[in-house]
Amino acid sequence: MMNFHILTLFPEMVMQGLHTSILKRAVEKEYIYIEAVNIRDYTLDKHGKVDDYTYGGGAGMLMQAQPVYDAYRAVKGRILSEQKNAVRITADCTQELQQQEEGAVAAPPCRVIYVTPQGRTFDQAMALEFAQEENLVFLCGHYEGIDERVLEEIVTDYVSIGDYVLTGGELPAMVMIDAIARLVPGVLHNDESAATESFSDNLLEYPQYSRPEVWRDKKVPEILLSGNHAKIEQWRLEQSIERTKKLRPDLYEKWAQSHEEYFRKKAKTEARERKKAMRQKCSEFSKDTK
Ligand code: ADE
Repeated sequence: MMNFHILTLFPEMVMQGLHTSILKRAVEKEYIYIEAVNIRDYTLDKHGKVDDYTYGGGAGMLMQAQPVYDAYRAVKGRILSEQKNAVRITADCTQELQQQEEGAVAAPPCRVIYVTPQGRTFDQAMALEFAQEENLVFLCGHYEGIDERVLEEIVTDYVSIGDYVLTGGELPAMVMIDAIARLVPGVLHNDESAATESFSDNLLEYPQYSRPEVWRDKKVPEILLSGNHAKIEQWRLEQSIERTKKLRPDLYEKWAQSHEEYFRKKAKTEARERKKAMRQKCSEFSKDTK
C-alpha cells in the first residue's frame, strides 16, 4: 500500500478532490491511503494563527515555521511507528531480516515534497519515481509561501506543476497524487493502460474510436475493423509517432534518439517496397511493349 500524507490548511479540499472515481475505489480497496493533516491544528498560537508578516517588509503574509514543523513531526512519528510495527510483525522471522528492517527504521522515513512554482517541473518520469515510495509527504503552502527555515529542515524535493502561479499548493499536490497513485499496482483495473498510454516511452497516445462506426460522415479507420492485430499495433505506433512529432516535437526528439533501430527497420522496409514497385512497373512495361 502506498501512503500519501498531505500537510495543508485546507484538508477538506484535498480529501474531497481525491476521494472520487478511481482514487476513491483505490482507497476503499486499500491500494493507497490518503490523509490530510491540518497544519492549523498544530499552531501554538491561542487564536489559531499560522501566518505572520515577512521580515524586511513586502506584500502578504508568510506561513510560520512552527505549525508546519510540528504537523510534519506528527506525520513522521506515525510513519516511524508503522515501520516499527512492521519490524515487530516480522520478529519471528530470521534475525537477519529483522536487522534489515531495523536499519530501515533508522533511515529517514520518507520524501517530503514541497509544491512550489520554484521547483523542478513534474513529469511522468517523476511520477514513476515517486510511485516506488511507500510514504510521500506533500507540503502545501499558502499566502506568500512558507518560512525558509522549516523548508530547509524538512523538504527533500521542490516540485512545480508548471510555469504559472496558483493560489496555493493543494491543487498541484492533488495533480501529482493522482498521477502517482494511478501507477501503484492494482489502482488501474487494466494493468496495460498505464504502460501504453501517453508519455510512456515519450510518445503520445494514438487516436481511439468507439461505436458507432460512422459518426457525422466520419468513418473509423478501416485497419481497426480488420481484426489483424499485428497491423493494428503497427498502425497505432505510427499514429503515436506522427502525433508526437506534430504536437510535441520536444518529446519526439527524445523518442527518436532512443529508437534508432525503428528508423533503420523503416528505411529497409521502404527500400524493399520501392524495389517491389519498380519491378512491377518494369514487368508491366515489358508486357505492354511485347
Ligand atoms: N503553488 C503555486 N503555484 C504552483 C505551481 N505552479 N506548482 C506547484 N505549486 C504551486
